[in-house]
Amino acid sequence: MDTVLVTGGTGHLGRDLIGLLKPDYRVRVLARSRGTDPDVEWVRGDLAAGAGIREAVSGVRTVVHAATWSPAARRGYLLPTDFWRSPADVDVDGTRRLLDEAARSGVGHFAYVSIVGVDRPRLPYLRLKHAAEELVRVGKVPWSVLRATQFHWLADRMLGKAARMPVLPLPTDIETQPVDSGDFAAYVAQRVADGPGGQCEDFGGPELLTFGDLVSQWQQIRGRHRSVVRVPVPDRLGQAARDLTCPTGRRGTLTWSAWLLSHPPE
Ligand SMILES: NC(=O)c1ccc[n+]([C@@H]2O[C@H](COP(=O)([O-])OP(=O)(O)OC[C@H]3O[C@@H](n4cnc5c(N)ncnc54)[C@H](OP(=O)(O)O)[C@@H]3O)[C@@H](O)[C@H]2O)c1
Repeated sequence: MDTVLVTGGTGHLGRDLIGLLKPDYRVRVLARSRGTDPDVEWVRGDLAAGAGIREAVSGVRTVVHAATWSPAARRGYLLPTDFWRSPADVDVDGTRRLLDEAARSGVGHFAYVSIVGVDRPRLPYLRLKHAAEELVRVGKVPWSVLRATQFHWLADRMLGKAARMPVLPLPTDIETQPVDSGDFAAYVAQRVADGPGGQCEDFGGPELLTFGDLVSQWQQIRGRHRSVVRVPVPDRLGQAARDLTCPTGRRGTLTWSAWLLSHPPE
């Protein structure tokens, strides 16, 4: 059995991916804290500190690099600082370290998980993801870059935080295409089986929704009712949101409403 290293294996995508890989591969996870799954080989490490990476890639055929550090995603809302800086130590420095060690140890496939639209980035975090993609593309290890649109869990977390306010001032007209991380994990797992694919087709959710639709389905299913105040958006913000969708790309099947019905609030 080949060994596959998953970084970010304790995260949303990572957990889905591990479940899909376990029947066919020996799965190793580089993580800051040891997980509980006894069928996984846990290597304690930290991409930002450069710890545990050599040990994690040793004897590995494929690396799926899904670790990331997005302060906004962690807290569930944007702060003004997110518009001018984002820490690079996991996404850029950590990716560089992982690539160097992967090349040194003869890894055959480095699959980097990224985000649709990072080549037209409007936020510092997306610029970091694009910089990391570039490292992968010019690196010595045969590679794949797999991009997805926003995951359902993130939209759910952000709306949950926003609903603490009595009124929701929202750009209801902008478009979004949220996707299930499990659907995307299946696409990534297929890429692991198929081997290096270079720049892969973008992967998005099954439906394009306006933010207004997204919020009204969320309110109905989560039972949280707040008045929504429509905030008009300039064209360039509308375009920035469209850049994060991929209407002509590959599509998952689990819709936003079906996902909400099958996942309790965090
Ligand atoms: N969320 C989205 O909407 C979205 C959309 C498209 C693509 N993506 C991409 O998909 C990938 C996975 O995203 P996700 O939503 O599953 O993220 P997530 O749930 O936030 O998980 C992030 C993972 O990165 C790990 N990590 C953070 N800092 C680390 C460090 N210093 N060293 C080692 N591991 C570290 C975390 O470990 P801990 O458990 O220790 O914190 C966690 O396992 C990322 O590349 C992301 O950019 C995300």
